[in-house]
Parts: sequence; C-alpha cells; structure tokens
Amino acid sequence: MPSLGRLLIIGYPLGHTLSPLMHNTAIGELGLPYHYEAEAVPPDGLAEALERFRVDEVVGFSVTIPHKETILPLLDVVDKETERLGAANTVVLADGRFVGTNTDGVGFLRSLTEDGSWDPEGRAAVVLGAGGAARAVAAHLALAGASSVVIANRTLSRAERLADDLARALGRQCFLPLPLEAPATADAIRQAECLINTTSVGMAGDPRLPVPAAWIEPHLMVCDIVYRPLETPLLEAARARGASTLDGLGMLIYQGAEAFRRWTGHEMPVGIVRMRLEEALAREEAEHS
Ligand code: ATR
Repeated sequence: MPSLGRLLIIGYPLGHTLSPLMHNTAIGELGLPYHYEAEAVPPDGLAEALERFRVDEVVGFSVTIPHKETILPLLDVVDKETERLGAANTVVLADGRFVGTNTDGVGFLRSLTEDGSWDPEGRAAVVLGAGGAARAVAAHLALAGASSVVIANRTLSRAERLADDLARALGRQCFLPLPLEAPATADAIRQAECLINTTSVGMAGDPRLPVPAAWIEPHLMVCDIVYRPLETPLLEAARARGASTLDGLGMLIYQGAEAFRRWTGHEMPVGIVRMRLEEALAREEAEHS
C-alpha cells in the first residue's frame, strides 16, 4: 500500500487542538490518502523540525502559537498578504520549497458572510483586541470594503500600533484605535453594525465580557472568535439583548478548509466537520462540568 501523505499541526504547547479531528474527518469523508497529526515543536526546535519535514517530504502543515511570526524567515516563499500580516498559519511543501500563507482572515470572512450573512462592504465594524487574530480580522474587514474598522484594546498603544501598521500595509485610512473601556468605544459600538471579539476574555470558564452588555444593541452582529465555549458570555449577552451572533467555530473550520484545499486540492466537507467538532466540544464540556 502506498504511504499516506503527511499533514501536521505544529505549535507549543499544543493543548487540545481540534485540527487533527477537523482534517482527519474531512480526509475520511472524502477517502483521501492523507493523515494529519499534531507535533509539539518548542520555539528552539522550529528550524530543525522544518528541515526534517523537508527530508520527510510532508505535504504541508498548520502553524500555531508561538510559531506564526517566527516561521516567516524560515520559509522559501511567502505571499504578499502574509508578508503584510507578518504571520503565517499554513505551509505547503511544493517542489521542495516551503510556501507560507495565512488563511485566518479568509476563514473569518467566509464565516461572517456565509454563516452570518453579513457583508462588510460599506459598513462599520469594531474589533476588540489588538493581537494576531485582531490583525487578520481587521485587515480582512478592510479588504472586504468596510467603511471603518475601530480597533479597541485594553492597551491603547498596541491598538495604535496595529491601526498604523494596517493603514500603511493596506493603504487604507479606515482604522481607528480606541481604549477598550472608554465612552468613545461605547459610541463606536452603537454606531457600528458588527462587533468582533478577538480578546481572550470569556474563554473557558472566564465569566467576563470584554465590554458591558449594555453597549450591545439589537441591530448588531456580534462575533466571537473564541470557540471554547461555543457560546461565550459575550454571545449569550448579545443574544439576550436581541442581537445576531456568530461563534468562533466557523472561523476555525474555514481557515482549515482553505489550508485543506491548498494541500489536497479538495473542498473540505464543512457540514460534517462542523458536526464532529461540535460533538467534541460538547464532550470536553461534559468532562469539565
Ligand atoms: P492573539 O495573537 O491570539 O490574538 P494576543 O496577542 O495574546 O493573542 O492578544 C490577546 C488580546 O486579548 C490582546 O488584545 C489583549 O489585550 P492587551 O493588548 O491589552 O494585552 C486582550 N486581552 C487579554 N486579556 C484581557 C483582559 N482581561 N481584558 C481585556 N483585554 C484582554
């Protein structure tokens, strides 16, 4: 029997990554000759791991924390947008060369437009947080034609730096940095049509909301990129206040689907994948309760 094409996720620590279940479900459904596994690669082992992957002729791999930025100089080819974002989450080995890309923003946008039926074109959005996820989300809102993208962060200087960086990288003046807990942010949220949480507030057992529930009005589309739990305190509050909501599982699946297409040439069967991941998250929650 011919050996299976190797796919991996590298990160450190890897924790309970859903990526192997996601990709192996898709591989199994489509009957493709690949296998996807997780490999914990510490920061000082990254260069060695890449050389090993080149020798072993892996098909490709996902990149997660803490390697998304530090991997860029180790790759042979990086597309322009990934270069501008300064972080890669997907690598394909093509003719012996590592080709890096970033599918996070594309994944978020597909989730927003397909699952949330919300098109950013000409509309205002507020992004909470200024880390790597905020960078991908804010950039793709702007690339999709959002009229304004407020970046509200606890540490204002980080929001300012991100807004400056994105304005320069994309040649758009639509980014406005604000402190997270400020009356101006409450106003911005009231005037916007979409609110996206990219902070870690509300993750796994954290009962807090990144902004007060009173700031959320029924006309808003409220998204959380956190998917543990699937319904974060922010989404629960938004639903209770009559707003539309979108959980973070869609972004995880669609960024994975984009990577899967690049590695295998096939479309990920996202419906069955979502079902399996929801079951796995429900099992995790039952174990922890
Ligand atoms: P990632 O790259 O995954 O997006 P990150 O760079 O660690 O993650 O960023 C996490 C984000 O969550 C940051 O915007 C952080 O705010 P600071 O820049 O002020 O640190 C935000 N965050 C984390 N804990 C928070 C808290 N308790 N309240 C508000 N924001 C918080």
